[in-house]
Amino acid sequence: MTTIVVAMGEKNEIGFENQLLWHLPKDLKHFKDTTSGHPIIMGRKTYESIGKPLPNRTNIVISRKKNWFVEGILIVGSIKEAIKFAKKIDEEVFIIGGGNIYEQTIDLVDKLEVTLVKADLQADTYFPKIDAKIWKKVSETCHEKDEKNQYDFCFQTYEKVVG
Ligand SMILES: NC(=O)c1ccc[n+]([C@@H]2O[C@H](COP(=O)([O-])OP(=O)(O)OC[C@H]3O[C@@H](n4cnc5c(N)ncnc54)[C@H](OP(=O)(O)O)[C@@H]3O)[C@@H](O)[C@H]2O)c1
Repeated sequence: MTTIVVAMGEKNEIGFENQLLWHLPKDLKHFKDTTSGHPIIMGRKTYESIGKPLPNRTNIVISRKKNWFVEGILIVGSIKEAIKFAKKIDEEVFIIGGGNIYEQTIDLVDKLEVTLVKADLQADTYFPKIDAKIWKKVSETCHEKDEKNQYDFCFQTYEKVVG
């Protein structure tokens, strides 16, 4: 199973100036619980935004740069290669962004793990439209904002409509 994991606002916004748009510790925990122990695939800009390999996961970073090496991550030159390497490690693979990589992989994956953040924020990077003819929401759990989590949000799982 190949799954996209994303947190997006009400207009599908996901980032601004190579940063996330919110601080939601509950979502960070959800991300960690979902992806730990499995390979994660990301674009070079997302890797640089995080700034270090995420622990307990094989970090596979996609870049066209030649002669770019970083300790602790696997660098590959295409999405196809990223998925091929990831599948050799584990059947469960997670694609974690950013916008550019989501655009190129939404048609390739089996499942979307979306955190829908109830906010409308300035952004320069967006998640592609989730086509209701292709994707069916199969579960949703919502949380209200609190002193540590600045917005209301819902964890949603989408699966591909078959047939
Ligand atoms: N809210 C969320 O869930 C979430 C998750 C992740 C990221 N983000 C946000 O998204 C933003 C970053 O997204 P982004 O769209 O700017 O960048 P990105 O998708 O993270 O990375 C783009 C880079 O990936 C490489 N790349 C893309 N397609 C490729 C291909 N087919 N073959 C080889 N290399 C390829 C290129 O790297 P080179 O330039 O090195 O060749 C390209 O510049 C940040 O604001 C980040 O905070 C949000």
